[in-house]
Amino acid sequence: MSAPTQRLGLNRRHFLQLSALGLGVGMMATLAGCGGTAGREPLDTVGKVDFRNPLHVPPLAKSELKDGRRVFDLVTQAGQSEIVAGGKADTWGVNGAFLGPTLRVRRGEQIRLNVSNELDEATSLHWHGVRLPAAADGGPHQMVEPGKTWSPSWTIDQTAATLWYHPHPHGQTERHLYKGIGGMFIIDDDEEGALDLPRNYGVDDIPVIVQDKTFSEKGQIVETGRSGVGMLGSTVLVNGTAAPMLDVVAEHTRLRLLNASSARSYNFGFSDDRKFTMIASDGGLLGAPVALSRIMLTPGERAEIIVAVVPGETVTLRSFAQDLGVAESRTADAGAQDLLDILQLKAAATLSPSTPIPAQLASMDYPDPALAGAMRMFQLGDNVINNKSMDMDRIDLSVKAGATEAWAVLNAHNQPHNFHIHDVQFQILTLNEQPPPPELAGWKDTVYAPPGVTIRLLMKFGKDADPMMPYMYHCHLLWHEDMGMMGQFLVVDA
Ligand code: C2O
Ligand code: CU
Ligand code: CU
Repeated sequence: MSAPTQRLGLNRRHFLQLSALGLGVGMMATLAGCGGTAGREPLDTVGKVDFRNPLHVPPLAKSELKDGRRVFDLVTQAGQSEIVAGGKADTWGVNGAFLGPTLRVRRGEQIRLNVSNELDEATSLHWHGVRLPAAADGGPHQMVEPGKTWSPSWTIDQTAATLWYHPHPHGQTERHLYKGIGGMFIIDDDEEGALDLPRNYGVDDIPVIVQDKTFSEKGQIVETGRSGVGMLGSTVLVNGTAAPMLDVVAEHTRLRLLNASSARSYNFGFSDDRKFTMIASDGGLLGAPVALSRIMLTPGERAEIIVAVVPGETVTLRSFAQDLGVAESRTADAGAQDLLDILQLKAAATLSPSTPIPAQLASMDYPDPALAGAMRMFQLGDNVINNKSMDMDRIDLSVKAGATEAWAVLNAHNQPHNFHIHDVQFQILTLNEQPPPPELAGWKDTVYAPPGVTIRLLMKFGKDADPMMPYMYHCHLLWHEDMGMMGQFLVVDA
């Protein structure tokens, strides 16, 4: 019996062509996953995923209080995981064979993370979206050699948010994340805690880590060819579960959506087009909830949404066709026409009642644009930023600790790219010369940059200065990052 979620990319025409060539079903699965050349066929899994695997909810990472510090022990390790039918995959994980536990901390806490590497190659763990000293960032300058432990520590000083962690070795980020290392990093604070929101982890507050992968007939995760955006997988996993279903027990469920895929963008919505309420973006709560029927997330981005269900119903979280702003000839290669069934929600016959979503969420303490100096320009090109490829030994710019800065990002290339900055959460001032829509008006650390579009960002840097250790900014389509679409900045004493 073969895996239910594979080979769905084969449309009838493909099927006939491949049958005529006398190729076996396994071979066809491999070909379907290879988006390496132009002319990739859109993938359509709508109605074809047999949702029967209970969604895995990553456990909360254990921690201990030592000398007033919350200490986590994290071990990167290799293992085997049965993800799809057909056999076990060789996978990597944190404190387990695949993916990692959810880190959960409170604003104001001092934390230490002991990261021990039991893989047979060096890796790193980067805390995406977290404000911290550069030496604690876990980027390509903080590699952890096999058998070694790295122990960054800092004080959590930012608002409640859904963040994440993933490897960041230069040139290898895509491969290490694809093998399975990564997880969620949730920050709580008093402002969020005072709101009437679903927050019972694993019950009505659910991490939804979305990743696409391609599997062999034997259940192995395979690297495929790459289109212009990178590898597009034919099976979508949530929290490492293929064909996942979630038993919904409350009227309102909070889904913490994380696009942890290396190249694929998702245009999330529900199978019946129902509206949902977005309450938070990358860096935390929005000022006010936003009713939407779609939310697009490119690699690295997050959104917290609340979905309402009625007793006994079933509805599917789906990714719809999306406008990536690329030429029509490139949309299929970018995955923009793919239709993907992702997670089935099955409402119980009796649901626990939920309170209405508060009309106001966070107080948005935006930086003062008058304090920003000259706009810095970042031009995205073919695996370069400002015509330069990443050089570990080159500092591209320095900013002053505590400074407010305005950055303009222009995608001058014909491919999809996005832009992520370490250490800060930014405000989007304009997107293609217009004010951002409400779902993009909150705190962001990663933003989609369609071809030809300029995005203006405003941000205030933290107080941690380090004259030697840089932070990164880069495209979060990981193949692009690996190929050099990254730069480094220092935060130095004012
Ligand atoms: Cu999520 Cu520099 O990365
Ligand atoms: Cu990051
Ligand atoms: Cu890119």
